[in-house]
Amino acid sequence: MKPDFFTRLIPAGLAALIMAACTQISDTPLQQQAAAQASQNANTSMVKTTSPDGRIELTLGSDGGQPFYAISRDGEDIVARSKLGLRFARGLDLDRGLSLTRSTETRKDETWEQPWGEKRFVRDHHKEIAATFTADDDSGRTYTLRARVFDTGVGFRYEVPDTGPRILIDEITEFSITPDGMSWWTPAGEFNRYEYIYETTPVRDIYRVHTPYTVKLDKADGPYIAIHEAALVNYAGMWLDQRRAGVLEAELAPRHDGSKVHVEGAFNTPWRVIQIADTAAGLINGSDIYLNLNEPNKLGDTSYFKPGKYIGIWWGMHINTMTWGSGPKHGATTENTKRYMDFAAENGFDGVLVEGWNIGWDGDWFNNGELFRFAEPYPDFDIKAITDYGREIGVQLIGHHETSANIANYEAQLEDAFQLYKDMGVKAVKTGYVADASDLVIHDADGIRRYAWHDGQERVVHDIKVLERAHVYGIAVNAHEPIKDTGLRRTYPNAVSREGVRGMEFNAWGSPPNPVEHQAIIPFTRMLSGPADYTPGIFNLMPNGPDNENRVQTTLAKQLALYVTLYSPLQMAADLPENYEANPEPFQFIRDVPADWENSIALMGEVGDYLVQARQERGSRDWYIGAVTDEDARTLAVPLGFLDAGTTYRAEIYRDGDDADWETNPYPVTIETRAVTAEDELILPLARGGGAAVRFVAESGSN
Ligand code: NOJ
Ligand code: CA
Repeated sequence: MKPDFFTRLIPAGLAALIMAACTQISDTPLQQQAAAQASQNANTSMVKTTSPDGRIELTLGSDGGQPFYAISRDGEDIVARSKLGLRFARGLDLDRGLSLTRSTETRKDETWEQPWGEKRFVRDHHKEIAATFTADDDSGRTYTLRARVFDTGVGFRYEVPDTGPRILIDEITEFSITPDGMSWWTPAGEFNRYEYIYETTPVRDIYRVHTPYTVKLDKADGPYIAIHEAALVNYAGMWLDQRRAGVLEAELAPRHDGSKVHVEGAFNTPWRVIQIADTAAGLINGSDIYLNLNEPNKLGDTSYFKPGKYIGIWWGMHINTMTWGSGPKHGATTENTKRYMDFAAENGFDGVLVEGWNIGWDGDWFNNGELFRFAEPYPDFDIKAITDYGREIGVQLIGHHETSANIANYEAQLEDAFQLYKDMGVKAVKTGYVADASDLVIHDADGIRRYAWHDGQERVVHDIKVLERAHVYGIAVNAHEPIKDTGLRRTYPNAVSREGVRGMEFNAWGSPPNPVEHQAIIPFTRMLSGPADYTPGIFNLMPNGPDNENRVQTTLAKQLALYVTLYSPLQMAADLPENYEANPEPFQFIRDVPADWENSIALMGEVGDYLVQARQERGSRDWYIGAVTDEDARTLAVPLGFLDAGTTYRAEIYRDGDDADWETNPYPVTIETRAVTAEDELILPLARGGGAAVRFVAESGSN
């Protein structure tokens, strides 16, 4: 049986045919439409539209002056009637006393190309409705709610006309989830930003969560939904608060003074998005909705960034064999960097990340972000000699700017910082904002030091400033302690990767380390939003010794699988070179796997249990599979129908050895090679906490 995603695949031959259709369906004063529809009561006016396939229906309306929306699928509620609205300091609120006065419907079917990504071509197929709400009084209050309904979900945003400078104090958008459902979430508004272990609870048991927030509804056909946002620009990040049971409300991360968003004139909110899918894998396959809701590339040519793999002077600091700061164990030395560059060149890596190279790390760097100097290397780091050497052997230095979330200090040095890297030929920089979530240091309009939230408006504005300035210097950005991804990489293609997840580093020092099911949850939650610099590929799974709680809770084969299940266009091989040199056979998969894809298909999975992800290398006929499981061993039968018909592939299979087990015997990897075609099924036995990685090399047949 072929999974449902086949119907949504765009044949490669068709890809060149970019279809665009934008048809106005109606532009009718609402009174007429409302009259034609059976409104529920005299004070209610409504408009409805459906997804292109007709399954999802969106209703917009106003009831007794209160704007609302509702979403159903196949005639059943997904989001029951939910309030819309914005509230401002000093009134002129946009939540009550508003009637739906006009609506316009259009549709679009267009396919666009990504410069790099999980897939080359993205189809944007939706119906759009723009509904205008107007005050019943003479205040002049009005806004347009623009909603787009895709086969994979719904996005809507508020478009508010210019009424001068205003302070938004509350967004009251609700998401009324019916019925209850099991959900996977991390807490929002807590100190550690997005770096939490996922909780699994009914919706009714959450308090305040981050997005993407994933729910399997309690229905016979169990549709899956995920609530998130797209195009977070000049606004505050959205958290979800549970108010009445089952009713979640948008809660905006505060600015330093406790207000939410300052606007100067006309503004649009980010898109509020509800993804809907029949299966958990369908959420992954439908997650390009966030890209579609973002504006096209506005930077222009970003070809200075090439997706690739990198190693780093990094893990050594996390396992305490090296230091960021100066001294006898300083990692960022000229000699050490050249050694890493040699290893990178020998094994086909594109770059070497070096942390701890610049002044500011000595002492309590976590709390002294103002000491960082972004254009002043430590004396034992000869950046010119290093980058000259890298150029000779074809390896780039990947830059690093740890700010300790002192964005005032960073912004003051931004031009000098990027100029130095540009002069040295650096094309990508990892940024870092380590600090408690409420401790982002800014300077207010009077130059006074203030503390803001890491995902509030001040940070949102800062991040885009960094992307825009980095672009001027031909530099791509991989942010750690970032704001969650909202698809902005479409508009800013130098926003290449980010953390925003409890990544590998927690296995070195976190208490507890990432649990066994972690990598079977994040593809269905965090990763819906976009690439993650999770930093896979740890081969010494017990770097602190076998008795230490802090260890990597996977098998070695599962580490290989992560290169396919966790997408990043800058993909790290996180371990020390010596641990790869000691394990050349499994390391071969990391050498082979690409970081840029023609197409990606989640084949099967359940949140928190397992996932099989397939990806085709960009510009190639070769495919890769990554399969991961949780604490249960399982054997998966994977149909290979995604391969080109009529072609024989050499499948290079890296799977858990027969008695592998993450806890007791994590290292055995069985490597075997088979000839397969699209007609075959691959049987993958996965150990407890295990995984499998497969490379399919096209050998013969049609192309
Ligand atoms: C936290 C980042 O996630 C990690 O990768 C980095 O090494 C440290 N901050 C220091 O910048
Ligand atoms: Ca981190």
